[in-house]
Amino acid sequence: MVDKKDDKIWNTKVSCPSNIALIKYWGKKETQIPLTPSISFTLSECKTITSLDIYPKSEANTQISFTLEENENPLFSEKILNYFKSIKNLLPWILDYDYIIHSKNTFPHSAGIASSASSFGALAFALAQYHINLYPKVSNQIHFASFVSELARLGSGSASRSIFPSLSLWGKTIYHTQSSDSHAICINEYHELFETYQDTILIVDSGIKKISSTKGHQLMENHTYRDVRIKNANNRINELLEVLEKGNLDKFCEIVEADALELHALMMTSHPSFILLQPNTLKIAQEIQDFRKKTKIPVCFTIDAGPNIHVLYPKEFSDKVKFFINDTLKPYYFEYICDQIGHGANLI
Ligand code: PMV
Repeated sequence: MVDKKDDKIWNTKVSCPSNIALIKYWGKKETQIPLTPSISFTLSECKTITSLDIYPKSEANTQISFTLEENENPLFSEKILNYFKSIKNLLPWILDYDYIIHSKNTFPHSAGIASSASSFGALAFALAQYHINLYPKVSNQIHFASFVSELARLGSGSASRSIFPSLSLWGKTIYHTQSSDSHAICINEYHELFETYQDTILIVDSGIKKISSTKGHQLMENHTYRDVRIKNANNRINELLEVLEKGNLDKFCEIVEADALELHALMMTSHPSFILLQPNTLKIAQEIQDFRKKTKIPVCFTIDAGPNIHVLYPKEFSDKVKFFINDTLKPYYFEYICDQIGHGANLI
């Protein structure tokens, strides 16, 4: 526990959104190195606000000490402590101070939105602010964003993508020269249609996940379909990059749904197998596909490691899609959150 003393040497307050993967990261090659590249869009409303206070290390205390004001969960404290130790190479000063961290999510826990992407994104961005104060050389905009993304990745892989505005790509691929396994990059070439893309998150079940994503990633190591997954994800990255540039929304829907369903097929065929989809998730998925066929409105779904379903569509169809959600889909979810493509991490 850090005493609230007057000798605070640094304070910063930041915000970092969550993101939704269009091509999923599932499986690792080694420590926080992804098995395949992934592409996500950064959200806007679902975010973590983090304030970081840095104090001189109390002399009596040889261990690093920090207080998490809004989260007294000891497991979470241990996670942060391990994280701090793991980023010592990037932030050589990290174990030399005491910290007070206040962290708050704008979305309810029940949303089933992985808060690790936004919370590690926010923490990494806050720590990086102090780092550029000490070492102004990394302050070049592109280098700084890559640096923050790398720091975030070491906390949670998907967090590496939350730093950037709009669309980002994490993981080395032959289809993008600037891509990297160590940090995500911003996808700059995309059609204006995606500038205001909407994500309505339908909460089918607010229960805790039956399996952590850490365990899920591990199960890809000896998975029967490991090589198939690597091939499919890379092909889809290639196709999606082109679709994002050209704005072909029919193809966008096809690729995004295929990858979400493949993620769950991988879960169901791993050893041990696990099922996160629920009957209502599948009902919604089918209704969305029928609605798209019938109306020609390019609305599609994606699903992360849980039963909740993200409904993705261009803003111009908001009224029609919202009506469909409030009418046809109503029996299958108990609440929803409206979000849209956003601007990434920032200082507040
Ligand atoms: O960042 P992690 O380790 O929580 O893994 C995220 C995994 C998925 O959300 C299912 C997919 C993704 O790319 O975000």
